[in-house]
Amino acid sequence: MNIILMGPPGAGKGTQAQRLENKLDIIQLSTGDMLRSEVSSESDIGLEAKEVMNSGGLVSDELIIAMISMRIDKEDCQNGFILDGFPRTSLQAEALDSMLIEKGLKIDHVIEIEVDDEAMVNRITGRYSCSSCGAGYHETLQKPKVEGICDNCGSNEFKYRDDDNAETVRERLNSYHQQTAPVLEYYREKDILKGVNGMAPINQVEDQLESIVG
Ligand code: AP5
Repeated sequence: MNIILMGPPGAGKGTQAQRLENKLDIIQLSTGDMLRSEVSSESDIGLEAKEVMNSGGLVSDELIIAMISMRIDKEDCQNGFILDGFPRTSLQAEALDSMLIEKGLKIDHVIEIEVDDEAMVNRITGRYSCSSCGAGYHETLQKPKVEGICDNCGSNEFKYRDDDNAETVRERLNSYHQQTAPVLEYYREKDILKGVNGMAPINQVEDQLESIVG
């Protein structure tokens, strides 16, 4: 099964993708995570992407499309994948359709996590993740069961993202409304867009998603 999760920064795409990944035995493909890993390894892609990401803008379509196309061909995507953060522009959505036809694949569900922008700044500025396994947490909204210890792998090291400050979040929200909103329209016209209430507690959002993907 192949799924696209849509929604603005902080909507809960990553949080829910991690849960669906475990439940459905399919893989989360986060373009943001892929880019952050390129930035940490100081690769050519990382050097190109770093400044754009820190300003809250979008990295070039060509780079992102090539990165996703190569990733989908990997063995671990055979069971299916959850696209988290892609497509983000109309050009990316059209390129995705063409690449899926070429690969003999299709998207089964496009789901928008619907939220209020005002709450997103708080969600994002309090967010952190496990340095070892990447599990996501929040200072007030989603704490580990034992303070300072990752629920998933037991590590006691955590990190914050460079672009998770209030100013950049507002720019990311702007980019979303200007460049990604048309992508929602693209899927609405194809009649495959569904929505869930992302303002509900995390477990309830998960239940809503499960009732769509079965
Ligand atoms: P990316 O990493 O994709 O960031 P984003 O889209 O801004 O989304 P986030 O990861 O910030 O939010 P999320 O929806 O995953 O929320 P989360 O689950 O963590 O992209 C980063 C940058 O990379 C972009 O700005 C761009 O520059 C570049 N980029 C990436 N893809 C690109 C592309 N395709 N094209 C061009 N450029 C690209 O949740 C947030 C917090 O809220 C967490 O702490 C969580 O615990 C909490 N939370 C989640 N759900 C709930 C809930 N229901 N109730 C209460 N708290 C909740």
